[in-house]
Amino acid sequence: MTTSNRRYHITTFGCQMNKADSERMAGILEDMGFEFSEDPNNADLILYNTCTIRDNAEQKVYSYLGRQAKRKHEQPDLTLVVAGCVAQQEGEALLRRVPELDLVMGPQHANRLKDLLESVFAGNQVVATEAVHIMEDITQARRDSTVTAWVNVIYGCNERCTYCVVPNVRGVEQSRTPEAVRAEMEELGRLGYKEITLLGQNIDAYGRDLPGATPEGRHLHTFTDLLYYVHDVPGVERIRFATSHPRYFTERLIKACAELPKVCEHFHIPFQSGDNQLLKAMARGYTQEKYRRIIDTIRRYMPDASISADAIVGFPGETEEQFENTLKLVDDIGFDQLNTAAYSPRPGTPAALWENQLSEETKSDRLQRLNHLVNVKAAERSQRYMGRIEEVLVEEQNPKDQTQVMGRTRGNRLTFFKGDINELKGQLVKVKINEVRAFSLTGEAIEVRQAIPV
Ligand code: SAH
Ligand code: SF4
Ligand code: F3S
Repeated sequence: MTTSNRRYHITTFGCQMNKADSERMAGILEDMGFEFSEDPNNADLILYNTCTIRDNAEQKVYSYLGRQAKRKHEQPDLTLVVAGCVAQQEGEALLRRVPELDLVMGPQHANRLKDLLESVFAGNQVVATEAVHIMEDITQARRDSTVTAWVNVIYGCNERCTYCVVPNVRGVEQSRTPEAVRAEMEELGRLGYKEITLLGQNIDAYGRDLPGATPEGRHLHTFTDLLYYVHDVPGVERIRFATSHPRYFTERLIKACAELPKVCEHFHIPFQSGDNQLLKAMARGYTQEKYRRIIDTIRRYMPDASISADAIVGFPGETEEQFENTLKLVDDIGFDQLNTAAYSPRPGTPAALWENQLSEETKSDRLQRLNHLVNVKAAERSQRYMGRIEEVLVEEQNPKDQTQVMGRTRGNRLTFFKGDINELKGQLVKVKINEVRAFSLTGEAIEVRQAIPV
């Protein structure tokens, strides 16, 4: 079947892993001759890359799908694909629910999109959700940005947090080799990318599935070793990583971040709850005291480091007092940013079956109280930038003000300043900050550092 002049559309839900997968799948589709269409209604192939972390994420997918399934009755050659975590969780059940679907494919199958579509074009309805070893990929991703890029370092998750669907939908941990990670980064450096975010659901687990150990019994390849191995990739000016797990986070990693100039002083370390009993019920494997010690150590090495995290309110059995322990942790630490969520029972997870579920009212009341505190603390944290000169990597024009460009500080604060995007895109600019808000800054350019040509 010819694919010339055929258009595809992708909508991505969920986390950075899904965004990275979507970019690879877009690369595959373009390789097959498809052209991108912003508008799904003009596309011949629609791919929803889905998320099931909470019920509302999953429901959103069904409402998008419903609309396109209807369209398929008028345009029978429309190809409908559901990829990602809802696909993995629901599998064939999704075909029963939406019979118009052509392809249901789990996240581990992203790199196989071409083969799977060939089977669809040969007339099959395809479900690909079996556990597979993820093959190193050969297609060029079609990346959304020309300045910043994601690089997977470890897929999957071997933890069993009692609220979480990720291990069910993303499979067991699989680390890429240090050589493969470095090769991808070198290619990105050559293409002019300035910032790379290394990705893993539990990035501290990197390497534990790779062969080899040091004489002291340490894994031969830890995430810290990986940072030392890749930090000097030419052209790449900044390195970030996510997500860290307090259970495995080490001082050695903190030291590496302090030592390596390209590694940004920003740490995303979800704590989920500030109460030890709840942490235990969640099977997180650390106490709030240990979490505080990690943050203290980071601040000892890098006093200005930005700290962000995720937290859940209304976990089964959470008392008012236990919730207040979360508030207290947030108040004491002062996060630069915190992603908060009300607990959502997920199919196939232990906590969903417990009887001590809280009411929606209690959950949303606690979420509001926590969010209020998060805003107050983030605004406090932003104060320290006032009058300071920060290095900003320019990514885009400010969509709300065309005379301004926007980018991020090393600490990951979104920053706006006057300038021409055509001149500044991809440049590191010294910006004097003269306006601060809870989650963003405004300033004026002082000096543009020409990135070293490669
Ligand atoms: N691997 C990361 C998080 C992945 S999921 C970690 O271990 O921290 C992203 C965030 O979604 C989690 O940190 C958690 O805060 C939230 N989350 C996960 N499952 C949830 C659920 N059932 N209800 C509400 N929030 C949830
Ligand atoms: Fe989910 Fe826990 Fe794994 Fe994070 S570490 S992805 S919260 S199971
Ligand atoms: Fe969602 Fe899957 Fe990521 S469930 S948060 S897209 S791993």
